[in-house]
Amino acid sequence: MAMNQQLVDAFNAQIQAEFQSAYVYLGMAAWFTENNLPGFAQWMRVQWEEETQHAMKLFDFLHNRGERVMLRPLSAPGGTYTSALDVFEHVHQHEQSITSSINALYEHALNTKDLPSQIVLQWFINEQVEEEALVIEIIERLKLVGSDGPSIYLLDRQMATRPSAPQEA
Ligand code: FEO
Repeated sequence: MAMNQQLVDAFNAQIQAEFQSAYVYLGMAAWFTENNLPGFAQWMRVQWEEETQHAMKLFDFLHNRGERVMLRPLSAPGGTYTSALDVFEHVHQHEQSITSSINALYEHALNTKDLPSQIVLQWFINEQVEEEALVIEIIERLKLVGSDGPSIYLLDRQMATRPSAPQEA
């Protein structure tokens, strides 16, 4: 069944938001590398992969529904941060805005009674809960270590152990 055109447009906007997230996190990966925190940089590269997979999940969904993917331009990510904690506070704000857009998209799918869209978006709703919880945990750890160099070094090594994003999200 064809999708409501405004819902298709909203999915295309979400594809853009997920690719924009990937780009923001890639910028953060660069910042961490340039600030001698290779473990955090690796963590951000995995995040970049995950966001790309989120975008592609929606991309494939539109095609599976016989709809058109309309890729939109991305903007340059920010890039100046004062500390690892500052980076993760930006991540948290960013994820909260993504959660809002996913929730709005889900409401749109409810209002148009589009059941397949509701089901694919339920996966994203759960994913947002997990992502926000993960980021809050990292923020708490960063607050705990403060500016203690050896602790930041150990945390950086732990961050490096994040496994690559699974292929099927
Ligand atoms: Fe795809 Fe981090 O939201």
